[in-house]
Amino acid sequence: MRIFKLVAIVVFTTLMMPGCNGPEKVSCKIEQNVEQLLSRMTLREKIGQMNQLNGRRPDEAFFEQIKNGEIGSILNIEQPELINHIQSLAVNESRLGIPLLIARDVIHGYKTIFPIPLGQAASFNPDIVQEGARIAAAEATQDGIRWTFAPMMDISRDPRWGRIAESFGEDTYLTEVLAVAMIRGFQGDDLSNPSSMAACAKHLIGYGAAEGGKDYNSTYIPERQLRNVYLPPFEAAVKAGCATIMTSFNDNDGIPATGNRFLLRDILRKEWRFDGVVVSDWASVKEMVVHGFSADDKDAAMTAINAGLDMEMVSLCYIRHLETLVEEGKVSISTIDEAVRNILRLKFRLGLFDNPYIETDKTRLAYSEEHLQAAKIAAEESFVLLKNNNNVLPLNDRVKTIAVIGPMADAPHDQMGTWVFDGEKEHTVTPLTALREMYGNQVNIIYEEALKFSRDKDKSRFNKALDLARRADVVIVFVGEESILSGEAHSLADISLQGAQTDLIREIKKAKKPLVTVFMAGRPLTIGEEVDLSDAVLYAWHPGTMGGPAIADMLFGKSVPSGKLPVTFPKMVGQIPVYYNHNRTGRPARGNEVLLDEIPLEARQSSLGNTSYYLDAGFGPLFHFGFGLSYTTFDYENLILSSLELDANAVLEVSFNLTNSGAFEATEVVQLYVTDLVGSTVRPVKELKEFRRVSLKPGETRKISFHLPIASLAFYGIDMEYKVEPGMFNLMVGGNSQEGLMTQFSVCL
Ligand code: BGC
Repeated sequence: MRIFKLVAIVVFTTLMMPGCNGPEKVSCKIEQNVEQLLSRMTLREKIGQMNQLNGRRPDEAFFEQIKNGEIGSILNIEQPELINHIQSLAVNESRLGIPLLIARDVIHGYKTIFPIPLGQAASFNPDIVQEGARIAAAEATQDGIRWTFAPMMDISRDPRWGRIAESFGEDTYLTEVLAVAMIRGFQGDDLSNPSSMAACAKHLIGYGAAEGGKDYNSTYIPERQLRNVYLPPFEAAVKAGCATIMTSFNDNDGIPATGNRFLLRDILRKEWRFDGVVVSDWASVKEMVVHGFSADDKDAAMTAINAGLDMEMVSLCYIRHLETLVEEGKVSISTIDEAVRNILRLKFRLGLFDNPYIETDKTRLAYSEEHLQAAKIAAEESFVLLKNNNNVLPLNDRVKTIAVIGPMADAPHDQMGTWVFDGEKEHTVTPLTALREMYGNQVNIIYEEALKFSRDKDKSRFNKALDLARRADVVIVFVGEESILSGEAHSLADISLQGAQTDLIREIKKAKKPLVTVFMAGRPLTIGEEVDLSDAVLYAWHPGTMGGPAIADMLFGKSVPSGKLPVTFPKMVGQIPVYYNHNRTGRPARGNEVLLDEIPLEARQSSLGNTSYYLDAGFGPLFHFGFGLSYTTFDYENLILSSLELDANAVLEVSFNLTNSGAFEATEVVQLYVTDLVGSTVRPVKELKEFRRVSLKPGETRKISFHLPIASLAFYGIDMEYKVEPGMFNLMVGGNSQEGLMTQFSVCL
């Protein structure tokens, strides 16, 4: 077997080489193995490693390409037997026996589907994000997938953009913490463990800032904003050892990321010293031609490789043109070698040379009890309680009949959310099923779908729904979005409830019964009227396989809401972009009212105060970043700082007392925000710097301490250097981005 010959040669030569005995032994050996192998490769074989193809329908010609060493990686192939077959072609029948790297989008679960990433972000809990990724890796690697294209860490401040569902929301720090947790979950402690997958930080860079929220659109992010807002999660990913990075589709200020040398060489390789693989997005090399940035496919290949893109996903420009480009001297062989080194290094790190095959006889882990339980907890922690008048929730003993109404109550496919290739709706438990199975013996559950799906406009069954509502003690309406309405290429210009869903809520309201609205959606929706009509509102995102049981237990108080919004909810689309940490304007808004109808006739030009607001939407959003209610209440008291004046190397201890002043044992997400009062450039109104989940029993008080490194206040200011600037800072601790205990401290250098 050729692979064994190769391994034997590599191992022998490695052992003979000096200098691989220190703590860096493993990576030193990998480097030696990479060099050995590289020295034996033809140019064609090298370019083959840089070629990633879609394996959805592999045929004989495809198998031939593998044997010829013309494919380095394959995505979208998931049958273990087929993977073992093609792997044996690569390992035994290609000249050098280099194993293939099998990739797939495992975004929020493989078979057991966790809440969409935006929902996971609402938990503010890196542990559940890490656990979700570990479980996804355990399930997916059993099918032979060793590389996932996640996490997506695009800062997303525009809910029209369908891919906001895949993001961790609008905040840089929250995204950074959760993305690193997801990477750790996928990659584990040791990438060579067969149950670990290489993660992929995507999309570099700024993809979430698409103009108008329209997917694939241009972005205009100046370098300072790029470095202060969009790049930090990627830098954190690199520091955390993320194995790969994907370039984005968009052009930023005219330069497509896939051909952006400054980004890929200067920042990624030189500044951050990234030694993993940079892969293009799907056909984004070829699309530089469509952008009008490259003249033709050959030009696109030259631009991408010279910019520093190691592997091309599916569009064949590399495999077709790189050889000629090298012959013509337009691409140097050292540039090719650099890319191939990165790819081979990853394959060695993943242990693919030792362990190329999948063990197909292992007990299947997909949908195991442990995995389902973890998915349920993740869903519970992702739910955000937005309203709870008169403590309608949790449902009490007096509730004997519940009317369950709406198109999302029993939509097993849609509740899984976007980017689900492998989760099966047959394994999904809907709220209706869960309520019947878990609580059907204690309450009478009556059900009317009323609308078949979220876009349905047929109101013919509204009468029946109203009739049901009249017969019930409480009405629970499940509305939202089908999964296909968010995700890639699914932007919306109107993010209000689709179809006749708002009419349905208006109709049911006529029953004058306590009304609980549960939203299941992939993005923030403009739901002001629906919230007003409801007594309680639970935002459940697309909660995944176990969304139903998680919702049922929360409605009945077996679990208590703890999620907080990772993204601002606008009142109306015209407010977008609306996010909590915008820069300070010279004329900040001072209220929250809507003034349009109060403007007197022939009013004078300045009569409304000249501040930054919309006449028709007022000053604030519908719900702020970080907001979320509980069944209990929390009190913050006695904020104390360890020092009021610190230098740039100091660590500020911030402590306060948190009391659970309500009747339920519950978890609060405590949040710490800082405002830099004067900067060399204009600074954000505030920025999240720390957060923690704290669980308290009713009546319990606990002293909470954060240790805030002053270094974490650094930013790229006027001279584009990353540093802390001296001066005064406001500090706030609280349960959302708007309310809390405030104090000040100063930093001197
Ligand atoms: C998406 C990526 C994804 C890739 C592979 C592209 O269309 O933008 O996020 O990883 O396809 O499926």
